[in-house]
Amino acid sequence: MTDKIVDAPVETQKRTDPPVAQKLLRADQARDTIRGGVHTDLRHDSAIKHVTGRAEYCDDIPEPAGTLHACLGLSSRAHALIRAMDLSAVEAAPGVIGVLTAADVPGVNDISPTGRDDEPVFATERVEFWGQPIFAVIAETRDAARRAALLAGIEYENLPHALDPDAARAAGMGYVTPPLTLRRGDAAAAMQSAPHRIAGRIAVGGQDHMYLEGHIAFAIPGEDEDVIVHSSTQHPTEAQHMVAHVLGVASNAVTINVRRMGGGFGGKETQMNLFCAVAAIAAKKWNRPVKIRPDRDDDMTATGKRHDFVIDYEVGFDDSGRILAMSGDFAARCGYSSDLSGPVTDRALFHADNAYFYPHVLLNSHPMKTNTVSNTAFRGFGGPQGMIAAERIIEEIAYHRGLDSLEVRKRNFLGDAGRDVTPYHQTVEDNIAPRLVDELEQSADYRARLAAVKAWNAKGGVIRKGIALTPVKFGISFTATWYNQAGALLHIYSDGSIHLNHGGTEMGQGLNTKIAQVVADELQVDADRIKITKTTTEKVPNTSATAASSGSDLNGMAAQDAARQIKERLTAFAAERWQTAPGNVRFVANAVEIGAETVPFADFIREAYMARIHLSAAGFYKTPKIHWDRASGKGRPFYYYAYGAACSEVSVDTLTGEYRVERADILHDVGRSLNPALDRGQVEGAFVQGMGWLTTEELWWDANGRLRTHAPSTYKIPLASDRPRIFNVELASWSENREKTIKRSKAVGEPPFMLAISVFEALSHAVASVADYRECPRLDAPATPERVLMAVERLRGAG
Ligand code: MTE
Ligand code: MOS
Repeated sequence: MTDKIVDAPVETQKRTDPPVAQKLLRADQARDTIRGGVHTDLRHDSAIKHVTGRAEYCDDIPEPAGTLHACLGLSSRAHALIRAMDLSAVEAAPGVIGVLTAADVPGVNDISPTGRDDEPVFATERVEFWGQPIFAVIAETRDAARRAALLAGIEYENLPHALDPDAARAAGMGYVTPPLTLRRGDAAAAMQSAPHRIAGRIAVGGQDHMYLEGHIAFAIPGEDEDVIVHSSTQHPTEAQHMVAHVLGVASNAVTINVRRMGGGFGGKETQMNLFCAVAAIAAKKWNRPVKIRPDRDDDMTATGKRHDFVIDYEVGFDDSGRILAMSGDFAARCGYSSDLSGPVTDRALFHADNAYFYPHVLLNSHPMKTNTVSNTAFRGFGGPQGMIAAERIIEEIAYHRGLDSLEVRKRNFLGDAGRDVTPYHQTVEDNIAPRLVDELEQSADYRARLAAVKAWNAKGGVIRKGIALTPVKFGISFTATWYNQAGALLHIYSDGSIHLNHGGTEMGQGLNTKIAQVVADELQVDADRIKITKTTTEKVPNTSATAASSGSDLNGMAAQDAARQIKERLTAFAAERWQTAPGNVRFVANAVEIGAETVPFADFIREAYMARIHLSAAGFYKTPKIHWDRASGKGRPFYYYAYGAACSEVSVDTLTGEYRVERADILHDVGRSLNPALDRGQVEGAFVQGMGWLTTEELWWDANGRLRTHAPSTYKIPLASDRPRIFNVELASWSENREKTIKRSKAVGEPPFMLAISVFEALSHAVASVADYRECPRLDAPATPERVLMAVERLRGAG
């Protein structure tokens, strides 16, 4: 590993470049290592383009003449019958070409990603949340479409609505998807006999994705039933299926393309289906290109977010703070339809133990139907909500026993045989949480700083400090086992340049860069010889969402498989052409050694082409070992775990509730990093995004069910100035995946998000000081300044 960012040649983007072949030949000049192999800090292939505004997003695609623009008409009731709908004023508005309602859907009016048929493109008789699409207007310009959409006359008959899990339970709304139970041992009996018991509740807020680039779909009609849709989507294959489904055509008529996203964070795993469907229906109906790009308010109102949860827990423990029994009920605001709420609430349960062992445990999910937008994937996918419950419980025990919370954490870690099984009966074989925590405790100087924080607070001032050190253990794999497969398509052109496609999508995380590194390593060529183009359903079919942090694990292996196939053919060719044993053919830096001869890579490829060697391959991969039986709640849903630990210190103004993060130290596990620079970026970004979730990002619906925080004016994400004043981020350099993942690396996209729980617990620690740590503060997430202040006041009142 090097410390410096390797300078990926920026010149390649200049117009004055020499022709590719010439440039590649120059690059072939002897060097003993390649540029941008695995385990090096290769810069994100689009980094310069991102920061100079030259990266192309969907909305930058030149619009063909005749392009139309769509805007959604959204409901203004949380739950109501549609008594009458008059769209004549919409249709008569200037520039309007027409409107689309459910009646215009040629196929099936449903885009439920799980096939539950509970998510119409356009509502028909009934609307079930404020902001539900009822119609779309298509006009010559985006502005005309937006103005016209406001002219609809819709008569509603109001029905009672329930907005949150508690109200939904009271109203008997039921579940949007079947709940899950995880059970091991006898929690009830162990709870009864435990020396100490605490029952409590924590409410954990949702989160808007706030991707910089919002949703967008741009559909271009083709001949017969064909349509091409450019979209900002994490899941091109699903968009393809959904467009085919609503159009009533086969999948082979639909092509979905995505060059890159300006952030997805899970918000584009299913939610773009709506926009793809609307654009495609309109494009086919009027036989003109149609683009839909909702403004931020509509995007935030009409698309799903992170699930907020209300978690009721009971824990039984001994004098030393060791947990004996744990039970928890995890109720989630799922919204009006199932979307991904099943797997999200499942994953919450899978992470309700975090890094701890529960000898007897009973966990239930309650995926509540509510009259709100259907909630969806968001970085961590329910895991963070489960994990924060585990950490809250540890804190409760620590205060109850008058122990340091880090001590309680250590006493409850998963450990040796007998203490190494999760509530879903997977044995944890790779547990490095204790080592990470020990190392971080040292490097962050936790003990001395805890003493200093306490000494500071003992002075009784207005500003109080808090510190907390929390671990993360996050399971890697899609829990829908069939999703754990990937494909890649690799071409080597006769000039030696390489064109690579894989099933993953690039959303800023650096997936394309990492996959290029894998192929560069396999073929021993510089990474800049490899061009990864847009993800398209035409090149790699039947792909999974780029989600569950699995992008590089899955697609890296598929790309490696493709490269190996070509390499095998090239080796056989070289052996035959140079009359030597295959063992004498070696791929070295930008060249091939055949016996005593060294041929530059481009020359070698030219020869192979002339000899009619097949220079293209499709690679494939599926994750081994995993299985999961949801009915019994048993299996091995995760191939492996990614771990981390964070120590955060905060200052709180106890008169206003305002706070800041003074310092955060992170030690995170990415196995053998494919690209430490990118991985560190993921850790930093995830941590700050997690901080936002637990501190300032608050979603607020009014009593009518209207989301009132629907723009950056009312919804506060962290700013650069909110980052920890001191921010020490390290990757565990000694870690290596014990499973045979791509180059022994580990997934990094989501796990570090949950390191931010340390900020939440540090805030709680600062608050607790006003009552001399006698009591665990009642603090819900997000711990906004208001909530922090109220928690302080409550303790002061009690004290
Ligand atoms: N990083 C950036 N810059 N932008 C994103 O949208 N999404 C996150 C994470 N990191 C995201 C990101 C989420 S939710 C996931 S699941 C992973 O990236 C997906 O990519 P990967 O599987 O390639 O890590
Ligand atoms: Mo990430 S929430 O799995 O897209």
